[in-house]
Amino acid sequence: YDERTFVMVKPDGVQRGLIGEIISRFEDRGLKLVGAKALTLDEELASEHYSEHQGKDFFDDLIDFITSGPVFAMVWEGKDATRQVRRMVGATDPGEAAPGTIRGDYGLDLGRNVIHASDHEDEGANARETSVFFDDDELLNYEQAT
Ligand code: CMP
Repeated sequence: YDERTFVMVKPDGVQRGLIGEIISRFEDRGLKLVGAKALTLDEELASEHYSEHQGKDFFDDLIDFITSGPVFAMVWEGKDATRQVRRMVGATDPGEAAPGTIRGDYGLDLGRNVIHASDHEDEGANARETSVFFDDDELLNYEQAT
């Protein structure tokens, strides 16, 4: 199949009712949803997901925030999906994110930036982050009408 990429609506995005808007953007773009679940992260799962940031000065705040309420985790499939999704998500800091991107349109600050997407420059990030949230048999294989 085409490339798969991990995406998560953060607690601020869920609180503000942005799940549907975000799904629509990826659907409109022609990406295929192959996995989705709503859950609240505990500290262990959150630390595993953000293991690359362990030891950084913002790590504790990041874990506090990401465990503060439900998140919506997804896997999207498509040609060059990781890079496509990152372009649609925009820069990490909403103040720097271009208008028209998800963070540029909805993000409030560096912490409350609505959405997480796997880094296309970090090889292995997708597989690692997907496996924190999904078992293999929770991901779908199906044909999408084009
Ligand atoms: P995300 O793409 O989920 O990956 C790590 C998150 O840490 C990032 O989005 C930001 O929401 C958050 N964060 C908080 N402070 C910083 C910082 N100084 N630099 C980078 N990311 C930060």
